[in-house]
Amino acid sequence: MFPIFEPSDLFNPEYYTGVRQAPEHAVTLPGWCYTSPRFYERERERIFFRYWNCIGHQSRVPVAGSYFTQEFVGVPLIVVRGEDMKIRAFVNSCPHRGSEIIDGSGTCTRLVCPYHNWAFHLDGELYATPMWEEAEAQGFKKSAHGLQQVKLELWAGLMWINFNPDSPSLLDHLGDLPERTAPWQPESLVCVARTEYPMEANWKLYLENFSDGLHVPFVHKTTLNRKYVSRRDFHDPTVNIGNYLMHYTRFEGTRGVSDGQKGFPEIDMAPEHKTGSFLPNIHANASMGFNIDSVSATEIHPLGPGRSLLVTSFMVPKSAIAIPDFDEILATYLGNSKVVRDEDVRACERQQRGLSSPIHVPGCFHPKDRLVHDYKNWILDHVIGNEAD
Ligand code: FES
Ligand SMILES: [Fe+2]
Repeated sequence: MFPIFEPSDLFNPEYYTGVRQAPEHAVTLPGWCYTSPRFYERERERIFFRYWNCIGHQSRVPVAGSYFTQEFVGVPLIVVRGEDMKIRAFVNSCPHRGSEIIDGSGTCTRLVCPYHNWAFHLDGELYATPMWEEAEAQGFKKSAHGLQQVKLELWAGLMWINFNPDSPSLLDHLGDLPERTAPWQPESLVCVARTEYPMEANWKLYLENFSDGLHVPFVHKTTLNRKYVSRRDFHDPTVNIGNYLMHYTRFEGTRGVSDGQKGFPEIDMAPEHKTGSFLPNIHANASMGFNIDSVSATEIHPLGPGRSLLVTSFMVPKSAIAIPDFDEILATYLGNSKVVRDEDVRACERQQRGLSSPIHVPGCFHPKDRLVHDYKNWILDHVIGNEAD
């Protein structure tokens, strides 16, 4: 009999053998994978602390000296654009005795810790330590006490961080995704909105839902479902190499606006890229939509086993901003996407409440749920039985 309540040997691979079967015979993850603090801690350590994570569009730091602070999976961060225009991320914890250095966002010329006034250049170098002459006389070297840097690289105009100093580069991580999405020229797009959506559900539920086509006629019956979908193409991981899963939903036109509403002009691309949306789910925390008229990137910020924050950047070509009724059309896109996002978030929250049953019995997969099955197995590849406990 399947264990009732979260077992003490939670990471024993035997509890997960059913998920490892072919989709038509497999079962879904046990409910505790979505509610257990211990399971969540393993995900933080083995997924979010090792993979690349998106933290938004580079326009969040538009000029030299622009900075913002934010926490990601419990790590307080400073992201700042230096005098050399390079964007860097640092842990927001002073190398002296650990104080948070700055908060909020804005522009600055240096970073000064308010506790004992150590001052750092925007590249993280420590340059002033008031009243430390005595220590300096005894061999204290400022050069050994710069800010702790976190890897930050750019792709598609988006900032991606990695806490693992030994990780592959972002481009190696993405594999062939940049090449597949090159027709959209995503690095040339302008980010025109950044929208936050809190969600009372485990982070995985949003990403599983993103890869699940079966819910569309029911959860989105008056929104997305109005657009006839002719076909869904799934990612073949033996052909397409990279740390992502994707599907291509084929339909005519754009889902950004309804029939009769005015949309943005189409991006100049070959016809094969203009039948629907290309939808990669990029490990660890991002899902993107490459549409005929825009690109969106949603960051998932896990806040604990049962809470998450979704943040979406919406990007369009520069030429779209120049059209006379740009503000009005943008408001239509954002209004429509809010309705759809609310539908998805409510669905994930209902699922979270159901999975919180301590006597939850794992479910099953429809043959078309292949990506959801792949995704659950990707989680197990990282969290269960792959390292000494
Ligand atoms: S903790 Fe920052 S200067 Fe002392
Ligand atoms: Fe949905």
